[in-house]
Amino acid sequence: MAEIVGALHEFHDETFVRGWADRFKPTPDRLALFDLILKQIEDLRIGAPHVLELGIGPGYLAHHILERAPNLRYEGLDFSEAMFGIARETLAQHLDRLTLTSADLTDPTWSQSLSRQPDAIISTWSLHDLFSPAAVGDVYARCFETLQPGGVLVNGDFIKPDGTTLEYEGGRFEVSKHLELLRQAGFTKPECVELFEIETEAPTAAQNYACLVAHR
Ligand SMILES: C[S@@+](CC[C@H](N)C(=O)[O-])C[C@H]1O[C@@H](n2cnc3c(N)ncnc32)[C@H](O)[C@@H]1O
Repeated sequence: MAEIVGALHEFHDETFVRGWADRFKPTPDRLALFDLILKQIEDLRIGAPHVLELGIGPGYLAHHILERAPNLRYEGLDFSEAMFGIARETLAQHLDRLTLTSADLTDPTWSQSLSRQPDAIISTWSLHDLFSPAAVGDVYARCFETLQPGGVLVNGDFIKPDGTTLEYEGGRFEVSKHLELLRQAGFTKPECVELFEIETEAPTAAQNYACLVAHR
């Protein structure tokens, strides 16, 4: 049987989550994506932006951003209490600027759980876990409705690279499909600003991700 590029996670299992968070420590390529996301937030030129992360996980992206942007307030959404436990440890120095919001991104009402309207919505390696382009498109549509006018959505996530003959799990699909879904959600000029760790011949589940940017 052909192998499918992807990975299964048990995000509600405390033991699995602890081990996974240890293995998932950011590499230099991943830190470059974090810097790119931070730049998109800084380019908004808002004094004290409210930033929402979809799938805060262990808080690695949150830590990178909160350390470098002292005026920013951060809201981390996730559906895993086990992840919130680790995020509180990772972000212990920044709890006064952090809100953790429990919600499931497959529930179309997730945006009603937010503490306030965000200036930026960011995410890394989370939306592919929704397993289909339709589910990711629904999240993009909620993001468009939820963002402040002038705000930005930045999604750094695993994709299916162009030119591959391999099969990928449903949540990993082409950049062109992401851009189409972003346009359908209402964003006028979505773009892919960078591709990371592209490997078409023999990829691991940790390679092939894109930084997608869309302004409201
Ligand atoms: C790869 S981790 C995110 C890592 C994080 N960006 C960081 O830098 O530490 C993916 C996260 O998405 C969350 N997630 C997956 N499916 C979700 C869903 N349907 N609703 C909410 N969160 C979800 C998982 O619980 C997990 O914490």
